[in-house]
Parts: sequence; C-alpha cells; structure tokens
Amino acid sequence: MRFSAAWVIALAACAAACGGGGGGGGGTGATTVAQVTVPGAPTIQSVTAGNATATVTFLAPAATGGAAITSFTATCVGSGVTRTASGAASPLQVVNLTNGVSFACTVTATNSAGTGPSSQALNVTPTAGSTPTSVSDILTVNFDALLNYSSASLPAYYDATVTPLDNTPPGNQISDRQAMLGRVLFYDRRLSVNDTIACSSCHQQARGFTDPARFSVGFSGAAFTTAHAMRLGNVRYYRPGSMFWDRRAASVEAQVSQPIQNPVEMGWDTNAGGIAALITKLNATTYYRDLFNFAFGSPVITEVRIQQAVAQFERAMLTTASRWDTGYAGVFDPNAPNRNLGTPLPNLTAQENRGRQLFMDGRQQGGAGCAACHVPPTFSLAANSDSNGLDAGETRIFKSPSLKNVGVTGPYMHDGRFATLEEVVDFYDHGIQAGPALDNRLRQPNGAPIQLNLSAADRAAIAAFLRTLDDTSLNTDARFSSPFR
Ligand code: HEC
Ligand code: HEC
Repeated sequence: MRFSAAWVIALAACAAACGGGGGGGGGTGATTVAQVTVPGAPTIQSVTAGNATATVTFLAPAATGGAAITSFTATCVGSGVTRTASGAASPLQVVNLTNGVSFACTVTATNSAGTGPSSQALNVTPTAGSTPTSVSDILTVNFDALLNYSSASLPAYYDATVTPLDNTPPGNQISDRQAMLGRVLFYDRRLSVNDTIACSSCHQQARGFTDPARFSVGFSGAAFTTAHAMRLGNVRYYRPGSMFWDRRAASVEAQVSQPIQNPVEMGWDTNAGGIAALITKLNATTYYRDLFNFAFGSPVITEVRIQQAVAQFERAMLTTASRWDTGYAGVFDPNAPNRNLGTPLPNLTAQENRGRQLFMDGRQQGGAGCAACHVPPTFSLAANSDSNGLDAGETRIFKSPSLKNVGVTGPYMHDGRFATLEEVVDFYDHGIQAGPALDNRLRQPNGAPIQLNLSAADRAAIAAFLRTLDDTSLNTDARFSSPFR
C-alpha cells in the first residue's frame, strides 16, 4: 500500500519539524505550541472510469500541517454536476456521475485546522462498459473481459517437433478479439439463408465438433450432406492446411466460405446472391457492425474478415487433455528413444496399453503401424499420407481429421460407413482394398493391401486405446460454447 508508506513518512516529517524543534530555551516550562495549519495537497495518481462512477487513487501530502489528516475528499465536476466522496484512505469511489460526460476530479486532505488545497485535476468519462448494448443484448461476450484464445498453454511435448505442423498463416495469428468474433459467427444461425443452420449445427461441441448423424441435414431441413461432418480439434496441426476429406479447400480460411455457399448446407449459392448477400444481411444487424469494429478496427464486413475470424476460432480448438495426454505427459522425455512414445502409460489399463503399443509400433515390430499416419502427439494425419483403401480402385486421396475425440464422434470415414471403432479396426485388419491411391504404408512389398490378421483381443485393444484419445475438456470448454443468450 503506497498510501500507508507515504503516511508514515508524513508523520515522521512532522515529528521532526513540528514536535521537538521549537524549544531551545532553558527548558523549564517554556513550551512552544506548534501552530497547526491545513495539510498540503495530495498527489492524484489516477482516475478510472466505471459505470457512472470514478475511482480516484492518490498519495497523501507530505505536509500534514502539524496534525493528523482526518479525511480525504475526492470531487468530480462535469457539465454542471458536482459529486464528492470522502474517506480515510485512497482510493475513493465517486458515484452518481453521468455516463458519457467528462468529469474533472481532484482530491483534498483535511486535518483539525481545515481542508487544504486541491490536487491537480484528472479527467475521466464514465461509461456503462465498452460492450455495446447491440452486442450485450443478445450475446454473453464482454469486451472488457475477453476470453483467452491467443496464448495457449501447451504440454511440453508440443515442442519444436510439433510447431512446424501448425498451419497458421503469418497474416492470421490468433487475437482474442477476432477469435471472439469467430465464435459468434460459428454459432450464428443467421449465417444460413433461412436462419436455421449454424456451423455448430453440424459441428457440435459435445460431440468433438462433429455430428452424430451419418450425414448432416442442411438449411432446407430436407437435403443432406454427402459426407460425414469432421471433428475440428487440432485442425491447426494438419500441415498441408488443406481442408475437407478430399482436401479440396486450400486452407482453414478458404474452407470457411464453402459451407456458407453450399446449396445444401447454408444456402448462399449464386441464386441466393452468394456471400455478398450474406454480408448485406449481416450489415443490417447492429451487433455485427459493432463486433467487426471491435475486432478489426472498422465496421466493414468482408468475406476475408469472416474467414480470418472463424479460422482463428477453429485453430484455437486444441486438444491436449485426453487420458493419453495425461499419461504421456508423465513419461515424455525429449531425449529418450522415440520420445518415450513406446513407454506404457501408468494411467491406462493393460488392454489400453496393449492397444497403444499396437497403434504406435510399426508392422516390423509386430505393431499395426497406425502412428505412421495418425501421428502423435497431435494425432493429425501425416502430410504425406495417401488413402487408406476403403474402396477398390480408389483414385482420390483422402485425409483424416485428428483422432483426438474419435471415441465420441462416430460414425467413421468420409462417408460415415463404419458405425463403431471396432468396425474401423476390423477394416484395417482384413478389409483394405487395392487401388491407385492406396498409401504404401498399407501395401505389402508386392503392392497388395496388407492384412494385419490380429487376434480378437488385439483388435479390441486398439479400439480401447483409441478411446483414450477422447478429450472431454475441449468438449466442455466455455470458450468454445455458444455465446448467444
Ligand atoms: C450442414 C452441415 C454443416 C455445416 C452447416 C457446416 N459444416 Fe463443416 N463440415 C461438414 C461436413 C459434412 C464436412 C466434410 C465435408 C467434405 O469433406 O466434403 C465438413 C468439414 C469441415 C471442415 C474440415 C475439417 C478438416 O479437418 O478438413 C471444417 C474446418 C469445417 N467443416 C468448418 C465449418 C465451418 C466454419 C462452418 C460454418 C461456416 C461449417 N463447417 C458448417 C458439415 C457442415
Ligand atoms: C496410410 C496412412 C494410414 C494408416 C497407416 C492408418 N490410417 Fe487411419 N486413416 C487414414 C486416412 C486417409 C483416413 C480417412 C479415410 C477416409 O475417410 O476416406 C483414416 C481414417 C481413420 C479413422 C476414421 C477417422 C474419422 O474421423 O472417421 C480411424 C478411427 C482410423 N483411421 C484409425 C486407424 C488405425 C487404428 C490405424 C492402424 C490400424 C490406422 N488408422 C492406420 C490413413 C491411415
């Protein structure tokens, strides 16, 4: 408390100056009564605005006038209104001010002789807070208390081996303001032509940001997507950055426009006027103009800004808190062979640890070779992975989203053909089909698809291990929940 320290110094100064100094004579009964005067001016340090209030912070004057200061008074004057607050110490809160009016605030000190001179004046303009009512009426976001999207605390094993996988472009680093806008856009049904579908309709947080339905219903309520909705956790760590099962969007940013323009999903196709028509619609709301102004420094709504904000929100969806993560954090050693990815984890069951070993080890080591494509610790797909042979003769190259949260996000594969993880493991065990796009990691030396031919116990173990990648923390994190009231 700086005030207390100054107070002690003031008393000490008085003890020297006003107490003993006056004597000097023979000393018998010749008492000199020091004359008490009003204190000096306090030093005003800051005045901060609140809702119709001002908080005045100050230091006591060095000169007390020879007697203890009994009180301080802060006075704020603005537009014909004068309000005061008194008390024994700093700070003082002056209330009943008018929002939006500039007040000049001063502070005085009082002792038994009276009130001393005023401090310098500092100006303040009280406000109801910086969140505009257009925003606070429908959203829970608070411009004065932003949630943290920009500085993630990552586990130690998200080190220099993981950073190069980050697909964040130099021009779109996450900021809390823009990611907050991205959250609003992601949850806003107004992004569909008839106000029925948001991104979150198909990417549901409790489901690892996917849809339990094999195909998702679009804005019409009658037409469905032809692919299964994808998880979004760790989307940031897919190095090529290309999005969708068939990688047709070049980046997370470019991806954002596609569901908006899609004639099944959100409906802003050419007939509906495209994204320009959506922007006209958003411009007609006051909250988006205020949100874009806050996030980008001007209220102009553009497709690029929509893409940037939503991409930031998605890239903030990290998943680093599964049971596997907790266990691995305990054994991780950057200098150990394979960074101890092969070490049994104490918090996993024997079956889960067996599945973990099969997942991590290559086929040469008696494993199933999964980690060669679904790479820990992000479990995003390796950049150079080709297809996994779902259909004979396949020529298209598919990707997989990160396997984090895979246990809560069935059905599986681009067309949701497998209802359970057990079916997925059975497929890798004996169902891989030959085709031009089949990845070499899933081929025998003669080019034919591999057959793992695992025991039933080992197949069940792999499925059990996959469920240790579930991350309920991402699926309940308030930062990624709906901001709508
Ligand atoms: C009607 C359902 C639906 C809506 C609405 C929807 N999506 Fe999707 N999303 C999907 C489906 C289905 C896929 C996979 C499509 C494909 O690959 O062809 C997908 C894929 C994605 C991917 C690719 C993930 C990856 O790892 O490649 C991202 C990112 C994404 N959506 C974000 C969004 C955003 C942002 C919005 C809102 C602007 C949105 N989605 C709206 C169903 C939907
Ligand atoms: C050659 C690389 C490669 C290997 C090796 C591989 N996968 Fe995959 N995996 C993929 C690709 C590509 C997809 C997406 C396929 C699609 O949907 O078209 C995928 C999809 C999946 C999915 C479904 C993801 C979802 O969101 O629906 C699971 C689960 C999975 N793999 C588990 C495994 C397991 C377990 C192993 C080891 C037995 C394994 N994978 C080996 C490439 C690979």
